[in-house]
Amino acid sequence: LSLVVLISGGGSNLRALLEAAQDAEFPARVVAVGADRDAEGFDHAEEFGIPTFSAALSNFESRDAWGEALLEQIQVWKPDLVVLSGFMKLLPPAVVSALSPNLINTHPAYLPEFPGAHGVRDAIAAGVTQSGASVIVVDNGVDSGPIISQERVAVLPGDTEHTLHDRIKIVERELLVQAVLDIANGHINLKELSLA
Ligand code: GRF
Repeated sequence: LSLVVLISGGGSNLRALLEAAQDAEFPARVVAVGADRDAEGFDHAEEFGIPTFSAALSNFESRDAWGEALLEQIQVWKPDLVVLSGFMKLLPPAVVSALSPNLINTHPAYLPEFPGAHGVRDAIAAGVTQSGASVIVVDNGVDSGPIISQERVAVLPGDTEHTLHDRIKIVERELLVQAVLDIANGHINLKELSLA
């Protein structure tokens, strides 16, 4: 299974996929890494010799033009699956529909709890004792697509957004690697899931 991974930041989830793919038995390969900026996570791609590309929203007349440019660069690689992992932009509907259902996303909360760009901060603010991590199929909403997998993560007294996010990321990357594995070996059928 060939993957294009889109990131915006440090790419710790990307690194987990790159490391998993080091195992010849792992049935997926990251063929390119894209971002909406010159992301720090590109360092991981370069370390593993994976090509990178970026399209910054500010360089385009509109979100749609930006989305189109990003889609064109994604499609160069003809991926079987596009993984959003720490990609902090909403993809325009044309991009989602072009890639769907082979487009998944990780989110650092137990969806539908705490969707959006600040799921970890919101969980802390809400004073909950547990949050979680989720892998979903991307639809045109904000973190609203069908859930592929999710797992609870404890919120500990004194947790900050940073300490909780670090604890969630450990689970998030396990879920992501397992989801890619299950999709590659057919245990998960994205088409069925997206129609459910
Ligand atoms: C991840 O928790 C992702 O779900 C969220 O932001 C974080 C990005 O982490 N959107 P990284 O870039 O994978 O380290």
